[in-house]
Amino acid sequence: MHVADHPLITHKLTVLRDVATPSPTFRALTSELVTLLAYEATRHVRTHEVTIQTPVAETVGLAISEPRPLIVPILRAGLGMLEGMTALMPSAEVGFLGMVRNEETLEPSVYAERLPDDLSNRQCFVLDPMLATGGSLLSAIQYLFERGAQDVTAVCILGAPEGVAAVEKAVEGHDVTLVLGALDERLNEHGYIVPGLGDAGDRLYGTA
Ligand code: PRP
Ligand code: URA
Repeated sequence: MHVADHPLITHKLTVLRDVATPSPTFRALTSELVTLLAYEATRHVRTHEVTIQTPVAETVGLAISEPRPLIVPILRAGLGMLEGMTALMPSAEVGFLGMVRNEETLEPSVYAERLPDDLSNRQCFVLDPMLATGGSLLSAIQYLFERGAQDVTAVCILGAPEGVAAVEKAVEGHDVTLVLGALDERLNEHGYIVPGLGDAGDRLYGTA
């Protein structure tokens, strides 16, 4: 697990958490934060050497390898992270997974899916702002595993220790990396992250 440690990230997170921050600002800050987190999340993106000619000399550089990385935002709130991620890695492909957590049982369910059938040999980047109980993220990762994915990086803005522990335990031995903007204190009795930022989907898009 990698937890961001940078004053600009903490500054943006502080504004994001503030209950007085309106949706347009919340959306813009989410994008900016994700681009900063994406820099760390893509550290191990698969590349190969290419030889190119500069105006001065021939040189060897790197290009992103095929199959191209797949970005998977978890709808609804993960959609607010997509632009920030593609800003850094525009050549990636995008697949979608719609999931909702039952607010009583906290169990996630999948209501939409548009992903390539075969994910073997694909590096997948899952976007979900909140890692609370971890149920949604785990279910998403399992979904990708079932299609052959082996290398999954999850980018979350906030995580709760309970959810991080649950995901790490369940994916032990697999190539799964968590990149968080911050690791918060705990979950409350409603399964919300404390101090958190409230309901990420509602703050991005209004009450569903
Ligand atoms: C939120 C959030 C995560 C999930 C986290 O989504 O965006 O997907 O809850 O909770 P968990 O770790 O306990 O599973 P929600 O179900 O509210 O749907 P939304 O994105 O449509 O708002
Ligand atoms: N989902 C959210 O949007 N916020 C939380 O704190 C927990 C789950």
